[in-house]
Amino acid sequence: MASLFYSRGVGSCVLFLGWWWFHLMGSGEGMVPAMYVFGDSLADVGNNNHLETLLKANFPHNGIDYPGRKATGRFSNGKNSADFLAEKLGVPTSPPYLSIPSSSNRTDAFLHGVSFASGGAGILDSTNSGQCLTFNKQIDYYSTVYGALVQQLGSAPAQEHLSKSIFVFIIGSNDLLNYVKSSSSKNLKSTPQQFVDSLISSLRGQLKRIYNLGARKLAFIGTGPVGCCPSLRHQNKTKDCNVEADYLSVLYDRGVAALLQELKSQLGDMSYSFFDTSSALLEYIQKPAAYGFSEVKAACCGLGDLNAKIACIPISTYCSNRKDHIFWDFYHPTETTAGLLLSTAFDGTQPLVYPINIRQLSAL
Ligand SMILES: *[C@@H]1O[C@H](CO)[C@@H](O)[C@H](O)[C@H]1NC(C)=O
Ligand SMILES: *[C@@H]1O[C@H](CO)[C@@H](O)[C@H](O)[C@H]1NC(C)=O
Repeated sequence: MASLFYSRGVGSCVLFLGWWWFHLMGSGEGMVPAMYVFGDSLADVGNNNHLETLLKANFPHNGIDYPGRKATGRFSNGKNSADFLAEKLGVPTSPPYLSIPSSSNRTDAFLHGVSFASGGAGILDSTNSGQCLTFNKQIDYYSTVYGALVQQLGSAPAQEHLSKSIFVFIIGSNDLLNYVKSSSSKNLKSTPQQFVDSLISSLRGQLKRIYNLGARKLAFIGTGPVGCCPSLRHQNKTKDCNVEADYLSVLYDRGVAALLQELKSQLGDMSYSFFDTSSALLEYIQKPAAYGFSEVKAACCGLGDLNAKIACIPISTYCSNRKDHIFWDFYHPTETTAGLLLSTAFDGTQPLVYPINIRQLSAL
């Protein structure tokens, strides 16, 4: 009898916790009703698992620090920026759009937030074409989501829901990396400023399209200093950051910030938060000890010089001190780095985050 009583007690405790969790996470008591995520491998939570592509991460040693040590398709040892943002907002991590079964009530899923982020994606359709959901494709899918919400809820309630939701963008690094890698000779290539201008010009149309589909709160996470990722350091004899690539990141982040300001003054009822990821991450790289890091150059998982010659695949080796590495693999930050960056994007101040941080954006 005693053991029966005991197990009943545990059962009701689990039921109670389940109820509490449902009410906290499931019924819209987060800071915003939902989060819609657009981006690349820095935010992908599993879309690429559903594509025929080489750009996947659903195998070890990815996910080694994720709950259950599961390789979920995140390009990380653990959680990524999308997970940390969801935690801060008190909403579940938005599931991959491609994982939502067509047999389910898709509208209900759409209402709680969706992620379109896909490893390899860029602003330009030509960036890793055929290997990912390009940003334009992501917006096409979002347009389907928008249509379903309008049909189910009616136009005004759908607009109301979307206007309170957060739209997150983590995109641009792959376009910059492709420009740096492209082998065309210097005089055939556009200049860095011309190239970034072309990216910003595409982005202008893309963000306007998303605005026209109901988005009003935009959180834009700028690119990191792409020249400092282990892959590009590895190619420099001195193992320093690639100067051209870091310069591109600065130009791009500057261009995005100016574009957002332009859109806000043009559209009026749109708000945004921009995070200068390049400056934040360079600060970690230049003063690692102040942020708890000791390895700023080498990847944790990989093979070869700086663990940057080979990707993080099952035959690669990985480090045990993952918390003090900035980079997990040759392109992606560790869970620790992603968490630290996201905390700054969420609660940070100018000049790193402007004109407001994501917490303030959510509360508008
Ligand atoms: C699907 O979900 C929506 C939103 O929660 C709800 O209004 C609708 O009744 C559901 N449809 C069905 C067929 O269950
Ligand atoms: C390699 O690093 C050095 C700094 O030591 C820098 O001057 C040089 O431009 C870098 N090479 C590239 C390709 O960026």
